Amino acid sequence: MKKGLFITFEGIDGCGKSTQITLLKEKFSSENKEFIEVREPGGTRVGEKIRNILLDRKNDSMTRMAELLLFEAARAQITEEVIIPAIGNGVNVICDRFYDSTTAYQGYANKMGRDLTDFLNLKATSETSPDITFLLDIDPELAWKRRMGRGEEDRIEMLGLSYQEEVRTGYLELAKSEERIVIIDASRDPEVIHEEIVKHIWDLTG
Ligand code: TYD
Repeated sequence: MKKGLFITFEGIDGCGKSTQITLLKEKFSSENKEFIEVREPGGTRVGEKIRNILLDRKNDSMTRMAELLLFEAARAQITEEVIIPAIGNGVNVICDRFYDSTTAYQGYANKMGRDLTDFLNLKATSETSPDITFLLDIDPELAWKRRMGRGEEDRIEMLGLSYQEEVRTGYLELAKSEERIVIIDASRDPEVIHEEIVKHIWDLTG
């Protein structure tokens, strides 16, 4: 059986991932393409519990290592429980964040280092790599303005603009060495961005 495509969306907080994922799901539905949507951290019973710990503003004493390992724990769970079986059954997987988030947020912005994050990313996923990754690149200030009015900030959003700058730099640095990562200018109209994303996916599937 033909394997499902594994598509991931990445970017700083407020980059517009959710809008693009919604548009892509509508496109897949209209083309009768089978897919599932998952998000990280979360997406499983165990993973959603870990998500609550990670994003809870009260957990401001969480160490950087504890944070990294919790993200990887949630990832290990969803990869084995959901992502690998779906791809194997020919179902496309649209994932809102995957291990590139750990590289950018924990590896670069939190300065845990690429050696450690690369190692854990591979272990947590049994080396399951996305076929294509859309990095929605945007100026953190613009993203912050978009986020305003969306309710209370979570523990990671609370870290502020300079943190988001570092995450962005981390993503762009990572994209230099990963061919699967497509950098998308996310400051544009959502429909224009969507068309570009669809074109990349069709190019991949032939
Ligand atoms: P979420 O509300 O899902 O944010 P978004 O809608 O921007 O994806 O919260 C996830 C937060 O966790 C987000 O700030 C990014 C962060 N994160 C990491 O720091 N490392 C990771 O490995 C992942 C998956 C997410």
